[in-house]
Amino acid sequence: MHIKDTERRWWKEGIVYQIYPRSFKDANGDGIGDLQGIISKLDYIASLGVDIIWLNPVYDSPNDDNGYDIRDYRKIMDDFGTMEDFDRLLAGMKSRNLRLIMDLVVNHCSDEHQWFQESKKSRSNPYRDYFHWWPAEKGLPPKRWSYFDVAENAWAYDKTTDAYYLHYFAVKQPDLKWENPNLRREIYDMMHFWFQKGVDGFRMDVIPFISKDTSYPEIDAQEPHEYIAYYANGPQVHTYLHELNREVVSQYDAFTVGEGPGISIDQALDFVDQKRQEIDMFFHFDLMSLDRKPGEVFTMREDAWTLPEFKKIFSDWDTAFAKAGWGSLFLANHDFPRAVSRWGNDSPEHWRNSATLLHTFLLTMRGTPYFYQGDEIGMTNAYFDHIDDYRDINTINRYQLLQNSNGDLERFIENEKYAARENARTPMQWDSSPHAGFTSGTPWIKVIQNYKEGINVAAQEKDKHSVLEYFKEVVALRKSNLTLVYGAYECLNPDDEQVYAYLRTSTTERILILLNFSDTVAHYVLPAHVSYNRIKKLISNDKILDDTTYKEFRLYPWQAIVYELEK
Ligand code: GLC
Ligand code: CA
Repeated sequence: MHIKDTERRWWKEGIVYQIYPRSFKDANGDGIGDLQGIISKLDYIASLGVDIIWLNPVYDSPNDDNGYDIRDYRKIMDDFGTMEDFDRLLAGMKSRNLRLIMDLVVNHCSDEHQWFQESKKSRSNPYRDYFHWWPAEKGLPPKRWSYFDVAENAWAYDKTTDAYYLHYFAVKQPDLKWENPNLRREIYDMMHFWFQKGVDGFRMDVIPFISKDTSYPEIDAQEPHEYIAYYANGPQVHTYLHELNREVVSQYDAFTVGEGPGISIDQALDFVDQKRQEIDMFFHFDLMSLDRKPGEVFTMREDAWTLPEFKKIFSDWDTAFAKAGWGSLFLANHDFPRAVSRWGNDSPEHWRNSATLLHTFLLTMRGTPYFYQGDEIGMTNAYFDHIDDYRDINTINRYQLLQNSNGDLERFIENEKYAARENARTPMQWDSSPHAGFTSGTPWIKVIQNYKEGINVAAQEKDKHSVLEYFKEVVALRKSNLTLVYGAYECLNPDDEQVYAYLRTSTTERILILLNFSDTVAHYVLPAHVSYNRIKKLISNDKILDDTTYKEFRLYPWQAIVYELEK
């Protein structure tokens, strides 16, 4: 494909691999993954063919929300190691041509951060205005819903100054007040600190929340999502993001990807149109909501999601970014269940094909693909069915809340089996030794036992037909074919319930992707307008069943095939 150099970017062509350090590899036997552990696996990561690593927070933190509550932005969490370890890790990445993006958590920090410790001392403290306070003499603050609070209350009372502070997440995660220019300056300085070390960008946690309505009107709402609508995209969000871009990111060869809860498709380009100089891409939440009750964040919907709904999400967002900006593609991360268990079928019969189909899908779509650790070997949900197995403040506090109100705990656990974040946070499965080779000690959270049945790196490296080896092959295919990165996308069968068929087209090439998203053999007929003279198979995750006419295809359950169509 010919594409203008001015439009090419390394972060559009790169493939991202996300590491959740707590669960990646434990080097010192305390049961918690650490930076030395990651260092010991850099050759493995490089062997995947990926280009960019996104590291979940590694900063000093009391770990109320696994590092998303930062106590010191310039220090490494003791559990994970030291700044020397970090520097060694970064050098190890650079020497393997791997780039690094860090997690930027600046909507809130930990209540143990020095800013908050100062802020709560007195109403006249210089740090007072780093946070959102509501003086008690004004009466009770207007109700705000909180994600992780045991009482779902986003206001916490603090006696010393007789005032409430705002926390949209846990009570130990006070929201930072971006309206204050001193705070913004501190954040920009901190970002420069990491850039000067050599990091290549940031994944920005809940970024649209940095600007909120600080007049705090009464909200007449019952359901969480009705509140959340007020939390994102406040009046200053674009001012702040533009400022951050000008003051920091634009000064480096770097990119930013925002976590975008609350960004709707018609607002998308306001964030990522290059002309606006804000952020480079963001993760929208449409797919992550597809199997949830409408408007609910944590509760599964009762019926099954359908393939036409799935396609529509990807097609609509592709259309939006075809005009300007750039998209991100992901099927899973540390906040959601495992991709193969959620969008595929993790039963023994269909696990391999569905895991490899999903790899084929993400790597043949337009946008930057993000893979979560373990997905390359088809790791599955944990399906924990007892509250004691959970470590996540989200599950634990919601359980507590239900218990306090005599709610249906059994039903709650059944929901968590499929919906909980912890499904994705169990230790990486390295080999068939005890605890899957993750630790020589006792792991901080249970290891999934299917590591003994081939879902581990060592076993799959030895097997040419494994999910892992297939992953590397599709990665190599994408990397050798710019049409798969930049080419136009056209969905051929939006209403088909079984097969997802689409084209990726450039001035020089046309690629056809066929994916059978079902447990049964599928039959697919190419529409008449797709004409060609020759067809060439580029890759498939299964034997070709029947494509002899090259107009009609039969696909095994969860089979993926990529063809090149020649004029
Ligand atoms: C984001 C993170 C999640 C965290 C939350 C609060 O959604 O991905 O893990 O709990 O923000 O920081
Ligand atoms: Ca450790």
